[in-house]
Amino acid sequence: MVFVDEGVAAAWPRLCAQITQYVEHLGDAAVLARTPVIIGGGEDAKNEKTLALVLAELATARLCRQSFVIAVGGGAVLDSVGFAAAIVHRGLRLIRVPTTTLAQGDSAVGVKNGINAFGRKNFIGCFSVPWAVINDGKFLASLSDRDWRSGLAEALKVALLKDIPFFEQLHASALQLMHRDHKLMNTVLRRSAELHLEHIIRSGDPFERSNARPLDLGHWSAHKLESLSRFQLRHGEAVAIGLALDAVLSQLLCGFPEREVLRIISSLIHMSLPVYDTLLEDSKAVIEGLEEFREHLGGQLSITLLKDIAKPVQVSGLRGEVIIHAVRILSEIWLGMSNLSDARPAQALG
Ligand SMILES: NC(=O)c1ccc[n+]([C@@H]2O[C@H](COP(=O)([O-])OP(=O)(O)OC[C@H]3O[C@@H](n4cnc5c(N)ncnc54)[C@H](O)[C@@H]3O)[C@@H](O)[C@H]2O)c1
Ligand SMILES: [Zn+2]
Repeated sequence: MVFVDEGVAAAWPRLCAQITQYVEHLGDAAVLARTPVIIGGGEDAKNEKTLALVLAELATARLCRQSFVIAVGGGAVLDSVGFAAAIVHRGLRLIRVPTTTLAQGDSAVGVKNGINAFGRKNFIGCFSVPWAVINDGKFLASLSDRDWRSGLAEALKVALLKDIPFFEQLHASALQLMHRDHKLMNTVLRRSAELHLEHIIRSGDPFERSNARPLDLGHWSAHKLESLSRFQLRHGEAVAIGLALDAVLSQLLCGFPEREVLRIISSLIHMSLPVYDTLLEDSKAVIEGLEEFREHLGGQLSITLLKDIAKPVQVSGLRGEVIIHAVRILSEIWLGMSNLSDARPAQALG
């Protein structure tokens, strides 16, 4: 059974018919339980209503545990359909076909599924390994500029954590990537997906049982910013701001060189990603975000910062005053660099 993101179905109007024809062509090897189901894309896909709709479709189609669910879409649709697939009969087989830069370079190769609930990001969800992931670069042609850029934030994140040459490549080609160089984007997403996948396979903690969240640079504040903005900020945009903030925190707490802080922020600005948002000035809410992050991962609070590029370090005991100080420094850097591009606060970008 195939679920297709509405945004993808609109951009590729023949896709659903092509899927049906393709499966018919396979003869007895595969049978579609029904014609592809189109579901609303974006963060709205991650609510109880959409989840209920997907579950109802799966129930009506009477799929068994050896059936395949194929999810075609952005990270939000993949998270939501993936969660439904993981809980029906305690787990149907899931094939992800990511169609955004963020999903191709990061989320689709991961093991997490879920939806937002009670005003909290990814509050309900599970770990579950997909049967397969198919990245097709052609889908990226129809992305809006915002969604085209969003995946660059996650690519930059994983480069900063693990791969100096990859960071140098992203820094040097930030403008070219922003201007939609497809060939380069495909190379960047492949490397990003490889690094995320390698981490899941080799880190020894694919289901995040420990306190540490070594892939979550920039994410503690990003999740809070997304919900504070009522999901007007894309995940990738919130991660970009989170990376800029964590770069400054790394300088304050771990001796991360100032020169690198500035290179990270200028790369993000050249990619046309936001690096600051006035939502950060709501210190009470931002500090609350830290506690929500702790609760989500369990145990003692520990966040990932950097000693240097590709030298991550776990930091515990982060205090509110340091965060407020870092936000102030970031706003000064951002104001100082706003001549680099037409950089405006993310909110103003709508
Ligand atoms: N599971 C994980 O490990 C993980 C990791 C990172 C992010 N995420 C989640 O992924 C979500 C963000 O995903 P995203 O950045 O892919 O955005 P998205 O899924 O919110 O999609 C953004 C928009 O693009 C549209 N769209 C998708 N593909 C398209 C295409 N090819 N052409 C035209 N329009 C298209 C969608 O309909 C939607 O309107 C967030 O909810 C985030 O929490 C999950
Ligand atoms: Zn992320």
